[in-house]
Amino acid sequence: MSFYITTPIYYTNDIPHIGHAYTTIACDIRARYNNIDNGEVLFLSGTDEHGQKVEKAAKDANIDPKLFVDKLSINFEKLIPSLGCEINDFIRTTETRHIKAAQALWSKLVENNQIYLSNYEGWYSVRDEAFYQESELQKVDGKFVTKDGSPVEWIKEESYFFKLSEWQEKLLEYYESYNRPISPESRRNEVISFVKSGLKDLSISRTTFKWGIPVPNNKDHVMYVWIDALCNYLSAIGYPDTNSNKFKKYWPAFHVVGKDILRFHAVYWPAFLMAADLEPPLKIFAHGWWTNEGQKISKSLGNVIDPYEIINEYGLDQIRYFLFREVPFGKDGNFSRNSISTRVNADLSNTYGNLIQRIATFVVKNCDSKITPSNNLTDKDRELQEIIQNTVVNYHREMGEMLFDLSLKNIMSLLNEANAYVDSQAPWKLKTTDPERMKVVLYIVLNIIIKSSIMLYPFIPQSAEKALSFFNISKDQISFKDLELLILSDITINNPKPLFPRID
Ligand code: MSP
Repeated sequence: MSFYITTPIYYTNDIPHIGHAYTTIACDIRARYNNIDNGEVLFLSGTDEHGQKVEKAAKDANIDPKLFVDKLSINFEKLIPSLGCEINDFIRTTETRHIKAAQALWSKLVENNQIYLSNYEGWYSVRDEAFYQESELQKVDGKFVTKDGSPVEWIKEESYFFKLSEWQEKLLEYYESYNRPISPESRRNEVISFVKSGLKDLSISRTTFKWGIPVPNNKDHVMYVWIDALCNYLSAIGYPDTNSNKFKKYWPAFHVVGKDILRFHAVYWPAFLMAADLEPPLKIFAHGWWTNEGQKISKSLGNVIDPYEIINEYGLDQIRYFLFREVPFGKDGNFSRNSISTRVNADLSNTYGNLIQRIATFVVKNCDSKITPSNNLTDKDRELQEIIQNTVVNYHREMGEMLFDLSLKNIMSLLNEANAYVDSQAPWKLKTTDPERMKVVLYIVLNIIIKSSIMLYPFIPQSAEKALSFFNISKDQISFKDLELLILSDITINNPKPLFPRID
């Protein structure tokens, strides 16, 4: 089945940090999972290049905004392969295809009588690019700021409004619809209570600066950056051509976003879409935020984590594994160097890497690099096989629900079972006492290693690919069909190389 997954598009006002890397890797994991046995995945990322915040950053750098965003966008695009992520398209909101799509969406909303001209007066935060009610603000040193401490300014200008207030009921129906589109549950509840508390019409244009997409038929206005930005998900599949194969195949999309931008995606976006006669998103998943050694990550605190730096220090798959094993996806997490090494050493080096190393080396040395299937199983063997099958069933459910930490935890416990089984069966003793039994034991352990490597592939693609290559399985042979039964063919083994050196 076709599957369309998106990252948020990143503001080109600064360089990428660990928060951006986190969302992108999460989407890559899900995209790779959906891609196994099925090539119809569209994975989109990109940059959000308009608005007052980006304009201000360009001004501060004394560079023309277009030149400024050209330069900054490249940093985000270049980061993606360095994270081991394979996207299918990268969209920039300054591209013509996007500008056309955003203006077409606007015109459709006008045609459907969803937009009117009036005046906006109220609080605006340039840092968040968001309008705030006074009740959402607090006073610090005599000045209003948002709950997260973003400064706000009072703005008063002519503005187009979107009739958001008319969409309350339809939105509530949408949240209840067949696939319960907002996750996790706690965030879904927040969205529902926000919508139930009543929706005001939304200001969707600005007149006091120029760095934005011009509103069709009124050159004094540029679009509010969020309507512009959200539209990227449609631009990439060729909106307004909703009859194209691409559009029909991929819409609606699965959006992965940080908790800070859930309201835009779960309230405004489905309302815009329904108001333009389009289907609302398939799913919107909000993940949590990382702190650094217990502290909020911020430029002013000087504790921003550079993804290149930590990947250089610990290794790419080590960081991918850590980010998604350490913290349930959807919850906040703390980044600490100590926990990286503890986690990577325990799971990847000791449990997974060592098992491969000792079993593969043993087979190469003692069995002529080859193990042939056998059905001569003991009760203990059958018990272990049942554990394998349960892990596989749970794995598919967990991946579908983005319960990444849980699937990793369960794969590691399967590998722990395998390690304990090797210790108790002692194939090195069976070598002389019962060579036939030794082969059965090795065969079962190899099955666990291969299946775990397939299940780990979306998380640690480079290492899993390497591990599978020891068993002569290439990347394009990776298939979930192999998770179903015992692998009923000969397993030929190449001399393994260490996958995860211990971190000191
Ligand atoms: N441009 C908007 C998104 C528009 S989507 C139509 C935006 N950009 S952003 O660059 O500020 O943030 C992008 C993503 O990075 C958000 O999902 C945000 O939650 C995430 N993160 C930023 N800092 C983060 C952490 N410290 N931890 C985890 N994710 C964080 O918002």
